This record gives sequence, C-alpha cells and structure tokens, in this order.
Amino acid sequence: MKKINFLILTTLIAGVFFLMSFVIPQEQKQPAPWDVPAEYEKKVNPYDEYNKDMQRLGKILWSKHCKSCHGSKGKGDGPKAREMETFPGDFTSDAFHTQSDGAMYYKSFIGRDDMPNYEKKLTDEEERWALIFYMRNMKP
Ligand code: HEC
Repeated sequence: MKKINFLILTTLIAGVFFLMSFVIPQEQKQPAPWDVPAEYEKKVNPYDEYNKDMQRLGKILWSKHCKSCHGSKGKGDGPKAREMETFPGDFTSDAFHTQSDGAMYYKSFIGRDDMPNYEKKLTDEEERWALIFYMRNMKP
C-alpha cells in the first residue's frame, strides 16, 4: 500500500512539473553577434532591380522556408520560434537593417546553431537574393 501511495505521489509531482513547463515561459537567449567572414561581408547583390517577379519569388520562398520561425512579417514570432533556444530576431528593427547584404546572406544561407543551413535547399542565386530583397523590405 505504501509503495502505491509513493508511486501516485511521484506521478503527481512529475505531472505538475510537466504542466508548469508550459505555463512558465522558457528563458530564450538574445542572439550573440555573428562572425561574418570578410568574403561574405563584402558580397554585393548582383540584382539591382526588385521587380515583380523577384517580389513574388521572395514571398513564396519566405513562406516555404523561413516563416515558420521568423513569422510572416519577420518579427520572430513564427509558430516554431518559441522552441528555439535563441530568439530569431526582429527583422523590422533598425539594427537588422544596418547590416550589409553580404552579412544577411551569410546568416541566411550558412546559418549557425538554431538557424538552419540552406546551402543545399536554396542553391539558386536568384532565389537567395530574392529572399534578401524580401527581408530588406520588412519594416514595422
Ligand atoms: C527552425 C527555425 C528557423 C528557420 C526555419 C529559419 N530561421 Fe533564420 N534564424 C533562426 C534563429 C533561431 C536565429 C537566431 C540564431 C542565432 O543568433 O544564433 C535566426 C537568425 C537569422 C538571421 C540573422 C538575424 C540577424 O539578427 O541578423 C537571418 C538573416 C535569418 N535567420 C534568415 C533566415 C532565412 C532567410 C530563412 C529561410 C530561408 C530562415 N532564417 C529560416 C531560426 C530559423
């Protein structure tokens, strides 16, 4: 009988902790500065025109690959964002837009930790730059 009580008690305590983990927001790290290699830092966008086709392409790719974490407007509030150890960032902030296109390119396609690597999934340069254009146009 004692054994059973003990079992019930431990199950209950474990259950309470399990439920609390949903109620209490988990600490999420703020992103640390990135080390962007010089060859990427000075990379220049070869497409000078953000035309209708580029806009459409950027939007499709953003929805398919990036929105789940970064959110539809780039606020870092996609459904998967909460599972990330590090906050994905607010792409409508001034801080985000002061970086070079090359730095944005490096972070987007090489990535690090929670930010996936897209070198194999997005191989087309036009697709990659369409995404950079798309993020550049994220404003509050
Ligand atoms: C699985 C979730 C996830 C997906 C999907 C994702 N990201 Fe990220 N991204 C992150 C996280 C988390 C960070 C912050 C990582 C860090 O700082 O270590 C990040 C960081 C970034 C940054 C750097 C932000 C800054 O402040 O400079 C860029 C740019 C970026 N992501 C672009 C993209 C693009 C473009 C896509 C789609 C092709 C994408 N991400 C898809 C999770 C994701």
